[in-house]
Amino acid sequence: MNKILDGIKIGQQIQQKIKEDLAKKNIRPGLAVILVGEDAPSQLYVSKKKKACQDVGIDFHEYLLESDTSQEHLLETIDFLNKDEHINAILVQLPLPKQFDTDKIITALDPKKDVDGFHKENIKDFLKDKSIITPGLPLGVLRLIEATGEHLDNKQAVIVSKGKIFSQPMIKILEDRHMQVKLIKPDDKDLKTITSKADVLIVSCGQAFLIKEDMVKKDAIVIDIGINKIDNDYVVGDVDYSSVFEKVKFITPVPGGVGPMTIAMLLYNTVELAKTLSEAEG
Ligand code: GUN
Repeated sequence: MNKILDGIKIGQQIQQKIKEDLAKKNIRPGLAVILVGEDAPSQLYVSKKKKACQDVGIDFHEYLLESDTSQEHLLETIDFLNKDEHINAILVQLPLPKQFDTDKIITALDPKKDVDGFHKENIKDFLKDKSIITPGLPLGVLRLIEATGEHLDNKQAVIVSKGKIFSQPMIKILEDRHMQVKLIKPDDKDLKTITSKADVLIVSCGQAFLIKEDMVKKDAIVIDIGINKIDNDYVVGDVDYSSVFEKVKFITPVPGGVGPMTIAMLLYNTVELAKTLSEAEG
């Protein structure tokens, strides 16, 4: 196994399987993506999602709304898509412009079509092992860790993150794999002591080059979720890649690591929702 965990290659393998599965089962799922405003990174993400859907045979329905769209209009759009039988999965691209109450928007989604797994009911179900959807980002991270082929039982995982949306499902996924999991904030005074003990280190905090060589354990698996723009168009992660590279056993590049996996997992979850719906309809 290559030291560099290539998310483009692993993501493409997953996409290929999805494509074959859809052709064999003769299912054509429909994913609606709502993008509000003209945020350039969001436009780029959505265009990548669109291309990936078209490649595997998922109908992609794009709803592009003006940045001054009212909350009411966005809620009406969601209501319309909740009722549309050609659509089995909906994604509202985040972040939304400031005038929106993101919680309210996510809550308006039909939980059965919430492909991100962000709806409160889905998060609750997920934590109780009752959900169809495993949120795409932590699932993509798990697939990368699994791709190493390393034994995970009782190994120490450390997640460096400020937010609960990502860390909560990530902790559960790793604990389900019988790992010991610690969550730490990037500004914690013990950061270096804790990260140095991690067999699997997952970093998601949006601080370029935060993790240096003296903060990682020898032969660790390092997963870098950070996307930080340097000098306007140069993208780097939260890990100082060149400084830690020699010391670790596996590492994700940025770009080309976690990013493409989230797209593959979006396709996977869209298909899971479509299958559940077709089973429910008999
Ligand atoms: N913006 C960046 N990543 C994501 C994602 O996974 N889902 C949504 N809805 N918005 C995002």
